Amino acid sequence: MKSFVLMTLIALGCLMVGTMLLAADTGGEATFQSLKCYICHKPDRRSAGPSLPEIAKAYGGQQQQLAQYLKGESEPLLDFGNQHLMQGKLEKTKEISDGDRRDLADYILSFGGK
Ligand code: HEC
Repeated sequence: MKSFVLMTLIALGCLMVGTMLLAADTGGEATFQSLKCYICHKPDRRSAGPSLPEIAKAYGGQQQQLAQYLKGESEPLLDFGNQHLMQGKLEKTKEISDGDRRDLADYILSFGGK
């Protein structure tokens, strides 16, 4: 019985922390997570797609240009011969609002360092 109460308390605690994290997680990072960009773009290494710092470096702070790419209005800067992998996702990023695309671009560019 005691352990049941303890488990319930732990579960409730996790739920609360989870909700708080979700609430704090706004803007570009939330979009990046919800559209599952992280499957192919990692903060620390190249995987199926270029790493976030690689993309940030290519764009060098050009938020507008990156937002345009995500809207399908400008050509990619990088070319690893795998544009088809990105196509389906571009259909998704074309559907979100301009503001969300700018936030998403800001989030990616935040991996640019100095
Ligand atoms: C299925 C894997 C996959 C997913 C999921 C994915 N990407 Fe990509 N992405 C790629 C690949 C592969 C490339 C590199 C294509 C090439 O250069 O050949 C790429 C390239 C990019 C680039 C660089 C464009 C340029 O100018 O060269 C950006 C920005 C980008 N992705 C953003 C995103 C965002 C935002 C999401 C989520 C909405 C996302 N990606 C989801 C595979 C993926």
